[in-house]
Amino acid sequence: MLVDPTALLADAPRVREALTEAGWSAAALDELLGAGHRQHLDRGELSPLLRRSSGSAPLARLARALVLGAPVAPGTLPDSWVGPDGRARVRLQAVRHGGVDVTVPHDPGSAAAAVEAEQVLGVGAASLTLAAATPRRLVDRVLDLGAGAGIQALLAEDHAGQVVATDRNPRAVAFTRLAAALGGVELDARAGDLLAPVAGEAFDLVVSNPPFVVSPGRRYTYRDGGYEGDELCRRLVQDLPAVLAPGGYAVLLVNWLHLTGEDGDARIRSWFEGTGCDAWVVQRELAEPEEYVTAWLRDTDETAFDSLYDAWVDGLSGVDAVAFGVVAMHKRTDGLAPLVTLDHVDQPTAPTWGDEVLAHFTRRRLLEGDLLAVPLRLREDVRLHQVATRTEEGWTAANQLLQQEAGLRWSGGVDLYGATLLAACDGSQPLGDLVAVLAAGAGLAPAEAAEQVLPVVRRLVEQGFLEA
Ligand SMILES: C[S@@+](CC[C@H](N)C(=O)[O-])C[C@H]1O[C@@H](n2cnc3c(N)ncnc32)[C@H](O)[C@@H]1O
Repeated sequence: MLVDPTALLADAPRVREALTEAGWSAAALDELLGAGHRQHLDRGELSPLLRRSSGSAPLARLARALVLGAPVAPGTLPDSWVGPDGRARVRLQAVRHGGVDVTVPHDPGSAAAAVEAEQVLGVGAASLTLAAATPRRLVDRVLDLGAGAGIQALLAEDHAGQVVATDRNPRAVAFTRLAAALGGVELDARAGDLLAPVAGEAFDLVVSNPPFVVSPGRRYTYRDGGYEGDELCRRLVQDLPAVLAPGGYAVLLVNWLHLTGEDGDARIRSWFEGTGCDAWVVQRELAEPEEYVTAWLRDTDETAFDSLYDAWVDGLSGVDAVAFGVVAMHKRTDGLAPLVTLDHVDQPTAPTWGDEVLAHFTRRRLLEGDLLAVPLRLREDVRLHQVATRTEEGWTAANQLLQQEAGLRWSGGVDLYGATLLAACDGSQPLGDLVAVLAAGAGLAPAEAAEQVLPVVRRLVEQGFLEA
């Protein structure tokens, strides 16, 4: 039986006080339970964690009750928080992200074990993918659509004047309210379908980790949108701009189909037509149907794998692959046709790269103008790695690799001329002047050198190695 989180709200301030007094934080729990304790929890391996948290210290007692779900020691929690089985009615997950600590309450039980349709899960890999891609500059109003247990809304609260969190599942709305009470912050949590609860309003930032999975039916509210194929994501992309303030940004997770005989990249590009927004699609994964269904059944339906597999894969007939990615949108204020960029990002990124979303759209504008007139600057986190081979002249650098340490962590080869040019890009002179110097040294006409250099520089600007 799922608990009604609203019944826990009145005593949330008492629990908050107990957590604070016990020194509750993600770091303190990592120290107590071990840095890898979430993996143990996800696999249901409680013994190592119970051993580490034995003892009567307040943090250990709270961790046993609220993280591990062990029987609650007397006096640890208010009665309203303890179920008839003597265990806490909810679990808490402490998360530190981008220097911000939040605590998310959620239903007991992991996704891989049997879940109920309206179950509200804790913070998963997708939640962190969205959090990592969210720009954290100060804004007035933020919307978290599909808030679940409230992780995105709580993180946004740190950099927004007002956060509105919406969800179709009333239990999720109640969990978000509980999360706000535990965090001592104000969140405006509303129940309703997609954009209905915020119709007619405007937000500077919209974040959404929607039920993007391409799945048959509506088995779980948190995972299955109940639309045909990737229709929920397309609809969201099309409808979201109506609640974006001019110049506002949206960041959301999406899946889209690569249908047999169709260009999957073109499919997602077409979603942005008529939105009035520039868009950046960062594709992170591409999975064939069998691989896709296996991953989701393992993640969310381990116990019913065989009974669900065939129908799901059969439902994906005509699909070559399903893509997963982050979509960022920026509402234009000039009425010009939107620009859509798609990057396939297979490399691991920095733990947070929301600043790249803002920088991306600035760069697109830069690329529309005359790059030779711009004083470009090499981004501070870029490093040059050289691999040298011993020759008769001693060590000779055979390969040079540019590597970003922040953002999307792009890397790529560069020749000696390119490396020299990049080193000179310190923002003091227009690119054209630097190219002219390089051309003179190589005995080339400046126009000829520019013709050779510009495509490479464009790519370096696109990927953020160079900025204005
Ligand atoms: C994948 S969960 C994301 C939860 C949380 N935001 C996170 O990042 O971990 C998707 C959420 O969207 C909600 N949802 C599902 N269908 C919806 C709809 N049509 N309108 C609004 N929310 C919906 C689900 O109840 C669930 O809480």
